[in-house]
Amino acid sequence: MSYYKIENLEQYFKHYKKSVREPRKFWGKIAEENFVWYQAWDKVFEFDMEEARFEWFTNAKLNIVKNCIDRHLAKRGEKTAIIFEPNNPEEKEQRISYNDLYARVSKMANVLKDQGIKKGDRVCIYLPMIPELAISMLACARIGAIHSVIFAGFSSSAISKRITNSECKFVITSDGSFRGNKKIPLKPIIDEALLECESVEKVLVVNRAGIDIKMMEGRDLWLEPLLEQASPNHVAQVMDSEDPLFILYTSGSTGVPKGMVHTTAGYMVQTAYSFKNVFDYKENDIFWCTADCGWITGHSYIVYGPLLNGATTVLFEGVPSYPNPSRFWDIIDKYKVTQFYTAPTAIRALMTEDYSYVNSHDLSSLRVIGSVGEPINEEAWHWYNDHVGKKKCPIVDTWWQTETGSILISPLPFITPTKPTYATLPLPGIQAVLMDDKRNEIEENQIDGSLCIKFPWPSMARTIWGDHKRYKETYFSQFPGKYFTGDGALRDEVGYYRITGRADDVVIVSGHNLGTAPIEDAINEHPAVAESAVVGYKHDIKGNALYGYITLKMEGEYRDRENLKKEINQYISSHIGPIAKLDKIQFVEALPKTRSGKIMRRILRSIANGETKDFGDISTLINPEEIEKIITKTI
Ligand code: PRX
Repeated sequence: MSYYKIENLEQYFKHYKKSVREPRKFWGKIAEENFVWYQAWDKVFEFDMEEARFEWFTNAKLNIVKNCIDRHLAKRGEKTAIIFEPNNPEEKEQRISYNDLYARVSKMANVLKDQGIKKGDRVCIYLPMIPELAISMLACARIGAIHSVIFAGFSSSAISKRITNSECKFVITSDGSFRGNKKIPLKPIIDEALLECESVEKVLVVNRAGIDIKMMEGRDLWLEPLLEQASPNHVAQVMDSEDPLFILYTSGSTGVPKGMVHTTAGYMVQTAYSFKNVFDYKENDIFWCTADCGWITGHSYIVYGPLLNGATTVLFEGVPSYPNPSRFWDIIDKYKVTQFYTAPTAIRALMTEDYSYVNSHDLSSLRVIGSVGEPINEEAWHWYNDHVGKKKCPIVDTWWQTETGSILISPLPFITPTKPTYATLPLPGIQAVLMDDKRNEIEENQIDGSLCIKFPWPSMARTIWGDHKRYKETYFSQFPGKYFTGDGALRDEVGYYRITGRADDVVIVSGHNLGTAPIEDAINEHPAVAESAVVGYKHDIKGNALYGYITLKMEGEYRDRENLKKEINQYISSHIGPIAKLDKIQFVEALPKTRSGKIMRRILRSIANGETKDFGDISTLINPEEIEKIITKTI
């Protein structure tokens, strides 16, 4: 019996039980039957929860790209692997077959090698959503270099922090990008970032936007001429299961971003398995995930998951509103997309548009529609179900994280009955539990708790680059022996999970995970600012938006408050990126603090949400009188 595909609810429960009782057999069989290996493993896994050390498929040898491309060539060489839909609908799409992809990835792999990249070197990829982005990721993995993709909306200072942290040797970027009706220069942002980075030896540049840019002699090289001369054949590097595949940075509760490290075999096995089951993938499907490869969703469900299954995956450069709000629906219709995977924030934005945009398109090719990144509210769920899925496509509300590598909790389409706002049941292998404040496991249903996972799974991140102590403390110390997700959740009467939101200082804005600490650090750099506290508040489209409470040290010089607000947002833009800008700024006399000097953000969060009646226990506050002032006035 194969465990790779779950066919019905009874089988789901059977596989789930097997995965808990005999995890070695369960994952061992999936790994053995569905992938190609140079050498088998000694042990399916070994771990030490206390030390946060995990190994999957110990000592096995493989290459993930051989599994994504080479092994499909005999049967699917002419099949389209990637459909590239450019930002401008007038520009022709590219259909890259598995044969073409093999040649393009091999050429890029040869260029990287010729230029001096070796196994284990880190390569930063800062590119828009163009084929070269996926090809660069795959080329790195093919030669054993570790890719670190940075979302092309991040600022130079955010980039230099990340490049310095992982000591990247190369950067792959483009002259610029197209987004809607804008042309955005990217290479100048890299130039500025690299003023602060010593590790980078070369910058390879894709010509995408035809922007006139400066090339630094000895460091910067145009990619096209190098690719033209490179051989279209490359023998994939033999990798160990636990060799790092990529680093991907995510926000944390301090200003230093966490470089989550994913390794080769476990990530491969579980992204492929989850893709197959959560999207009910079948051979001729056309899969479209609207995320950016700068985030984990793009890594796992635009690139690795689909290609590991020999699927056709759509890579879209643009935005949902350009040239008009029917762009998503046009693309679904144009390529006869069968699975569509997007974020609630996009759904909420499109919901506000005229119904005719969505209803005038033929969306009958769709079979499964998905949601990811933040809780999907009931109204958005119904709109998605009625207008996009036409009440016949199950919605898979998929819960997971950069750290988890692949989807952990989700309905299985046509198998798990869906329920609005519920991510429903954990996939086989995922031992989800809810914990109370006293660190006890909550056995009963219908109670809120902290969502933890009490047994390792193959695609979990193995460490934080260069800081294993932080990894251990962040994820394995609050609930000893368990992985703490940082999310709150509740379970309904049948055991379905509903994610209720972050339990820490991370705010999810338009599906982007933003730590408030680095934003506060950026604000505090402004000469007029004494102190700041940033919290999230509910927003109709973005899910959450950011509210900053700021005290000033140089009031007189900054009487023009509107201008000061603009300047503060510019500081945030240049330190992090425009995605972290504050929607609301309030200047206050003082921030509410506890006796030990900690800002009581809980109160500020309530005020930002307009909840000013009951603040609960405020006995530890040293300045309770400030609350009333914050509610009633701004300075
Ligand atoms: O709070 C959860 C929320 O997004 C967080 C992870 O963010 P990130 O690492 O950027 O990865 C996003 C894409 C996987 C989680 O801790 N989240 C993710 N999916 C859901 C969700 N919240 C509710 N429902 C979801 N389906």
